[in-house]
Amino acid sequence: MKTRTLGHDGPQVSALGLGCMGMSWGYEESARDDDASVAVVREALDLGVTFLDTADVYGDGHNESLLGRALEGRRDEVVLATKMGLIADDLAARVIRRDGSPQHVREAAEASLRRLRTEVIDLYYLHRVDPEVPLAETWTALSELVAAGKVRRLGLSEVTIAQAAEAHAIHPVAAVQSELSLWTRDALGAPADGAAPAGDLVAWCAANGAAFVPFAPLGRGFLTGAITSPTFEAGDFRGGNPRFAAEAFAANQRIVDAVRAVAERRGVTPAQIAIAWTLAQGEHVIPIPGTKKSRYLHENIGAAEVELTADDRAELDSLPAPVGSRY
Ligand SMILES: NC(=O)c1ccc[n+]([C@@H]2O[C@H](COP(=O)([O-])OP(=O)(O)OC[C@H]3O[C@@H](n4cnc5c(N)ncnc54)[C@H](OP(=O)(O)O)[C@@H]3O)[C@@H](O)[C@H]2O)c1
Repeated sequence: MKTRTLGHDGPQVSALGLGCMGMSWGYEESARDDDASVAVVREALDLGVTFLDTADVYGDGHNESLLGRALEGRRDEVVLATKMGLIADDLAARVIRRDGSPQHVREAAEASLRRLRTEVIDLYYLHRVDPEVPLAETWTALSELVAAGKVRRLGLSEVTIAQAAEAHAIHPVAAVQSELSLWTRDALGAPADGAAPAGDLVAWCAANGAAFVPFAPLGRGFLTGAITSPTFEAGDFRGGNPRFAAEAFAANQRIVDAVRAVAERRGVTPAQIAIAWTLAQGEHVIPIPGTKKSRYLHENIGAAEVELTADDRAELDSLPAPVGSRY
């Protein structure tokens, strides 16, 4: 497995990590199987994946506990990333609120350490900035966890360049995680939803020695071409997502068709093209495709070997914008 550096003085990690959220919530929860998920995590390690992504809010602690179990005896093989700052008040109804208070920072870290069965978190993200708490306060409390040896590096998720710069001036930002995929290019300064461009966050990361970690690089499964109907079981995040609503879903098939055409030409799969495109955005970019299935894991890891040609890039860069906002 190829490796990349997680932030300018950070550790080497596999060029793509494993997103673990779907093992606990979000997509087709009826297919959840903890034993199978533990096996997938261990298989990922066997295959050379050394970067795992979770958060305390995924299944309200469930996902971290799952990783704690999967990493029993193998903790040192991975760079373990988790996140704080979101609280699930009602898991089933997905009622989630933000809390960036220093007290919550400290309590959340202790709870994550316990569930992950570890003494240190390698990368600790602020999942969302809390509008009620100045970012400097939250970030300072997080930096105190680094000073206390409970956390190695800090990251931010879904922030603006101004927020990243503000935090970076207080304590280095090792990684920024945001949605980036063939149908979500906001982080490159090209919002698909017609919003005002917010600047190139991926470039900001490169210039400031931070890794950029694309989440949902497969468009929550859409870009793989494996989703053939816009009907999802109750509770599946995609059932309420504008891009998956029937009309948008139909209109967005032209994106999948175009990705499939490139994949067929290259003799690889659409999922591999979608991941390879994120990898091609810079050496500091480390995508975290999510899966709870062994066969998808193998397929996705294969993307690290796919080098896109200039023609591939040109074709993929000019895909039409999707119909429907990303949330
Ligand atoms: N910071 C944030 O706010 C934030 C938000 C969302 C996600 N994340 C992180 O980013 C990770 C990745 O994002 P994501 O999981 O939301 O979306 P994703 O990686 O774009 O897509 C995951 C979906 O694609 C399916 N899939 C995976 N590989 C496939 C393949 N080769 N062929 C067909 N289908 C495939 C998965 O199915 P199965 O589940 O059946 O395997 C799942 O439904 C998450 O796991 C999480 O750790 C962070």
